[in-house]
Amino acid sequence: AAVPATLQRIILTGFMGAGKTSVGRLLAEQLGWAFLDLDEHLETRANATIPELFARDGEARFRRIESSALANALSHTHTVIALGGGAPEQLTNRLLLEQTPNTHIIFLDAPFPVLFDRCMLQSFASPDHIRPLLASPEQAEARFLTRQPIYRRLARLTLSTADLTTQQAVDQLLSSL
Ligand code: S3P
Repeated sequence: AAVPATLQRIILTGFMGAGKTSVGRLLAEQLGWAFLDLDEHLETRANATIPELFARDGEARFRRIESSALANALSHTHTVIALGGGAPEQLTNRLLLEQTPNTHIIFLDAPFPVLFDRCMLQSFASPDHIRPLLASPEQAEARFLTRQPIYRRLARLTLSTADLTTQQAVDQLLSSL
């Protein structure tokens, strides 16, 4: 696929379970670009896992760590960046994302029940990476609804991943660049 010469970053946004990490990793591989997962990046910088950060200091402190990791991540070039699902909720993060030049933002979308089921399956496979904000399905769905318009406005393209394999999602993204 031909990538526009000026393009420096592709950012994947969307709710937990949308496929940001798996699609992002494969997309980067097929572009010959680096891949940066914001959750992993912030865990490395904080030297703690996300469940530990939530348990220790609550969500507010986690969000501050996430913002500083985001600012750092956006300085990377020829990189596919998978955001955490909550990263665009803060206005300052949104402004930062909107003001980063030569960057495509893509919203990976799926219905809430699909996302929730994917996350539950993942939590069995990797119990160290339980997502603290899924403890209450009702509250998670409320967050999902609040965030939908935020993701949609931020992105130049929305891709529904409900019925796509990871490779199919990557193919569609590559043909849209
Ligand atoms: C969160 C999403 C998670 C992680 C944290 C909070 C959220 O990232 O950043 O558990 O607020 O939606 P993923 O979207 O990669 O699961």
